[in-house]
Amino acid sequence: MSYSTVWCNGQIVGGWPYGYASWRVDLTPFVKPGADNVLAIRLDNPPNSSRWYPGGGIYRNVWLTKTAPVHVGQWGTYITTPETSATSATVTIETESENDAKSDASVKLTTAIFPLDASGHFNKSKPPIATAEASVSIKAGASVSTSQTLRVANPKLWSPKTPVLYMALTTLSQDGKVVDTYETHFGIRTIKYDPNNGLFVNGEHFKLNGVCDHHDLGALGTALNVRALQRQLEMLHDMGCNALRTSHNPPAPELLEFADEMGFLVLDEAFDTWGQNKRPNDYGGGNLFRLWHEPDLRALIRRDRNHPSIVLWSIGNEIAEQNQGSNSVIAKELAGIVHAEDPTRPVTAACNDFNAMNNGFSTLLDAMGFNYKPDNYIRFHELYPNEFFFSTESASTISSRGEYFFPVVGPGFGTVNGRSRNGQRNGSQDDTVHQMSSYDLYYPGWATSPDHEFFGQDHSQAVAGEFVWTGFDYIGEPTPWGGRNDTSRSSYFGIIDLAGFPKDRFYLYQAHWRPDFPMAHILPHWNWPERAADPKANPPKAALITPVHVYTSGDEAELFLNGKSLGRKKKVFDTPNNSQLNGQPAYRIRWDDVPYEPGELKVVAYKNGKKWATDTVKTAGAAKKLVLEPDRATISGDGHDISFVTLRIVDRSGITVPRSMNPIHFSVSGAGEIIATDNGDPTDLTAFPSTDRKAFNGLAMVIVKAKRGQRGTITVTASSAGLEMAKTKIKLK
Ligand code: GAL
Repeated sequence: MSYSTVWCNGQIVGGWPYGYASWRVDLTPFVKPGADNVLAIRLDNPPNSSRWYPGGGIYRNVWLTKTAPVHVGQWGTYITTPETSATSATVTIETESENDAKSDASVKLTTAIFPLDASGHFNKSKPPIATAEASVSIKAGASVSTSQTLRVANPKLWSPKTPVLYMALTTLSQDGKVVDTYETHFGIRTIKYDPNNGLFVNGEHFKLNGVCDHHDLGALGTALNVRALQRQLEMLHDMGCNALRTSHNPPAPELLEFADEMGFLVLDEAFDTWGQNKRPNDYGGGNLFRLWHEPDLRALIRRDRNHPSIVLWSIGNEIAEQNQGSNSVIAKELAGIVHAEDPTRPVTAACNDFNAMNNGFSTLLDAMGFNYKPDNYIRFHELYPNEFFFSTESASTISSRGEYFFPVVGPGFGTVNGRSRNGQRNGSQDDTVHQMSSYDLYYPGWATSPDHEFFGQDHSQAVAGEFVWTGFDYIGEPTPWGGRNDTSRSSYFGIIDLAGFPKDRFYLYQAHWRPDFPMAHILPHWNWPERAADPKANPPKAALITPVHVYTSGDEAELFLNGKSLGRKKKVFDTPNNSQLNGQPAYRIRWDDVPYEPGELKVVAYKNGKKWATDTVKTAGAAKKLVLEPDRATISGDGHDISFVTLRIVDRSGITVPRSMNPIHFSVSGAGEIIATDNGDPTDLTAFPSTDRKAFNGLAMVIVKAKRGQRGTITVTASSAGLEMAKTKIKLK
């Protein structure tokens, strides 16, 4: 990231400026075979180049590819599955063979298809299920594209529920000798984009229950760590998320591999800017867009087009040119590039401008993406009944995990168009400590509550789904407290905080996206001594009203406080009034007049009249001890694998103490090291590698990895003055 330049043995080889692009240069003329070679790479990430934290340095994998002069080109295969059924599939493969030799070449090109098992491996001892052969003549210095069609009998179709993959093995042979082999993973599936009913995979309807994410991995920064990425995707899966938008740039290729294997549907996005800049040194305008948009967009599509997970290409996010309607020359050009590189998937763009709804801009796209317009879906479908559409960006609800402020107001109030009202404290936020309330009712002026988006989605059969802003908190953009005197390091938009701890909102989405998964979740926590009645005070103090919200996949629930019923209520689907949910969000069940009393809150949820799920929240006593819980207690010793160890501060009965912020010291002994700590507090400016970290609302995270090549055990210790220390062991395999 970014403006890479590569030298080999002191000579300039080439480079590529867009920090998110994948690219390669040819070292052949510069390397000295058999000798020491020096490779130098210069990167330059100018200030003011991004609206979020882009990272720096070499932050994605770099590979040295060694081939014979005759070889398969870079991203040299393009696989489509034009016809599929339960009994047969047609697989079309175009292969680009290159000849870098000084003489012409005659080669045999063989393509063989193998099934992959669930762990992505293929069994070499089994014969391929389909093969094709071609003779190819390639002139010296030229390349040739060959098209082959194979038939797969009884194919296992790829879908979010059954993410089955195949591998096409390309072999080039010259004079009977194999000179190159090349593997392409792909899936067999058909996607239908129905303007009236949304998205279908192999004929089955899938609502896009998606999230947007930036590419950083919280405390680990933006440098790709495969396990950290996998953990993020596992959490999203658990929430019921089935779709990812790679906002607002090409993702790490590993993300797409996981998406193929786990069954996510992906919206792959190219740009955040076109002709006009959003930041002085960003991609837009004459900085890079003018000269580089074509190679960048072609590179993205050639790299990614074999992934079955990808269902849409986005050419831009909130681009100023939306207001030019059908006159946007750039939109036409970019859509043309996409169509030329991959005619099988629609082109979309994320539009936030109300005018883009009916100024004709959408006619330049195959699919319309709306940012924050849940009240427009019905109207848009009337205006453009033949256009597939969905929400590219929804909600942008903001919250801090475990923070709650009173009185509970809203939805929507408190943040005035995303600008802070410094020094104020009200129901939505505390401007003195820069924390947002976690009742999930607060959002900046352009955004909505999750419930409001659900309402828009549920009342239009045509809308194909949503991508929530965002799955995880990310470094940068700490709305509503951005700007010069920033005291926050990360966003408040995430459904999951920067450390990877779910906020309450996780359960609101899970309730809606996994209707068949029995669950219930109570908020807030139940440690409010200052809200309790105090009959001995002078004058005596009554208990303060402390609203309780329940997120459940059930349709009804009964709440109990210390065994006393506070009433059984149904989920009421409200009507939005002027784009507000009339003060009553519909996708949660609320008890708004609960007088606080310490003890136990319990909810019993029902579905169709039958008991469905329960949740309990208990008042914790004083903080007594620390507990450490690794997400995986055995990891690989390869020096890349990591264990995420959660620290909890608990009382003597083991209940997490929700408001504890004690400082923790972490240490390790044995075969590993601490690479970062975090707590999900957007205002914690302690550097991520620090082994000292205060807890945030009862929790902290320590991220541990093996020293490369070591065996044995890593012992992680956490200590804090006045509390019993904790130890946990992680085994290396
Ligand atoms: C959108 C934008 C995103 C992010 C979000 C915050 O307008 O596309 O990148 O800034 O707002 O709500």
